[in-house]
Amino acid sequence: MRDMTQYDARWFSGQAATWDDDRRKVERARQAAKAIADEIPLDPSWTVLDYGAGTGLLAFALADRVGEIVLMDSAEGMVEVARRRIAECGRPGIRAERHDLTRAPLPAGEQFDLVISMMVLHHVEDVPLLLKRLFAATAEGGWFAALDLEPEQGEYHDADFTGHHGFSRGALRRALAGAGFGHLTVRKVLEIEKEVQGVPRKFGVFLATARKDAERPVPVG
Ligand SMILES: C[S@@+](CC[C@H](N)C(=O)[O-])C[C@H]1O[C@@H](n2cnc3c(N)ncnc32)[C@H](O)[C@@H]1O
Repeated sequence: MRDMTQYDARWFSGQAATWDDDRRKVERARQAAKAIADEIPLDPSWTVLDYGAGTGLLAFALADRVGEIVLMDSAEGMVEVARRRIAECGRPGIRAERHDLTRAPLPAGEQFDLVISMMVLHHVEDVPLLLKRLFAATAEGGWFAALDLEPEQGEYHDADFTGHHGFSRGALRRALAGAGFGHLTVRKVLEIEKEVQGVPRKFGVFLATARKDAERPVPVG
């Protein structure tokens, strides 16, 4: 599976060292963590996978409420910065791994009580494949939470961006159900302010939550 134009793993690696300098990203992660905690009954025993974690902003914002955490990202630079943050924070039970689930699934049996992912799906070409692999990485009865852009007119990124210009609720629900998830909810939880050609604009971000229900049959194919 190829990466999307210039927003590939090398580009994200180049952004990693200064990623957390943008206080808006830190605040966004805090808001996202609150929205997740409002929706999902988090437990300190839970294992968590933050997929496309970047430097780990979202997972660190949730760290007081959950157990072991894996920060996973395809960009080596992001994983290096995440490892530095882990070493500095001194909180046990967090590790960072470089992995791209669109290239290879996790080893069978490596599953998490909660899988979270923020602003990653729109960068991934084959969203159904990724969701299927994230479903496989979710434990029976476990939870999934993704935050990403609501539909936009292609203004959020540069003109040559070939990823997804956000996701409609219908498309998202179909993709999550197709991967096997049930108990779906989708709601807008925050806005990202960004200048487009010198004009301040707001882009909506949804939180989608879902569960892997042991009693619900997993779709074939
Ligand atoms: C917009 S950043 C978001 C980072 C972080 N979740 C946050 O909200 O601060 C997108 C992240 O997804 C990662 N990413 C993109 N495609 C990926 C893939 N196929 N597998 C794993 N990570 C990916 C990028 O390396 C980058 O760290």
